[in-house]
Amino acid sequence: MNHLNKIGYAELQALKDNYQGNLEDALKQTQNGYPIQYLIGYVDFYNCKIKVNKNVLIPRFETEYLVEKAIKYLQEKNIKTGIDLCCGSGCIAIALKKNLNIQIDACDISEDALKVAKENAENNKVEIHFFQKDILTGKIEGKYDFLISNPPYVKLDEYTSEETKYEPQIALFANNNGLEFYQKILEISKYLLNPNGMIIFEIGATLGEEIKKIALDIYPKANIKIEKDFNGFDRFMFIET
Ligand SMILES: C[S@@+](CC[C@H](N)C(=O)[O-])C[C@H]1O[C@@H](n2cnc3c(N)ncnc32)[C@H](O)[C@@H]1O
Repeated sequence: MNHLNKIGYAELQALKDNYQGNLEDALKQTQNGYPIQYLIGYVDFYNCKIKVNKNVLIPRFETEYLVEKAIKYLQEKNIKTGIDLCCGSGCIAIALKKNLNIQIDACDISEDALKVAKENAENNKVEIHFFQKDILTGKIEGKYDFLISNPPYVKLDEYTSEETKYEPQIALFANNNGLEFYQKILEISKYLLNPNGMIIFEIGATLGEEIKKIALDIYPKANIKIEKDFNGFDRFMFIET
């Protein structure tokens, strides 16, 4: 999780254009670690303008890369229906819907995050069915050709940068050494996915092999690819069940 609080000319200009309060105060806040994206009020994400506030994780560059890769995969396979689990600001579902002829649903545990996601879908002129769900305990109705998720994956004792303390903590941390959500999503995929369905994950850099093992326990014949982010870290997983 990085790139928060890198202030360049574009960020400063956006802050000037969008921040209602005193600019010097705003810059002081960022020097104390407060994410500039929350002060600007939005981020550019894969050609979509995504509103952000303290109720949603600030979309990361890695997640934009996930979307780029997912679009290629889904186009190749001619896949039509999907769900974004743990959607937060809605950035993934919105960018996919804008670029592909698909039907996509999206869910999150946080009503406040869903409010932002719905506003983002409306502003980006895409139709997405959003609903509230705790995916660890609740049952999702429906059948899909693919599941995509950037779930919480930071281990409880893992170091995180200063700015992340201003983001919703439920968006970041996961039990079971960061594996909790991957395990659960793989389990529920058994009833959520249509035959030959696909699962697309953003993953923690150290979690690839462990997630792969869980996936192979559930889908012994799966074709699984782990791919790297711009910094050379394992970051994406594509599972053809
Ligand atoms: C890492 S953030 C990802 C947000 C967005 N998809 C993105 O890529 O920017 C994880 C999201 O999972 C949600 N979440 C946390 N626990 C959850 C649960 N038990 N069920 C559903 N969503 C959950 C959080 O509210 C947060 O929005």
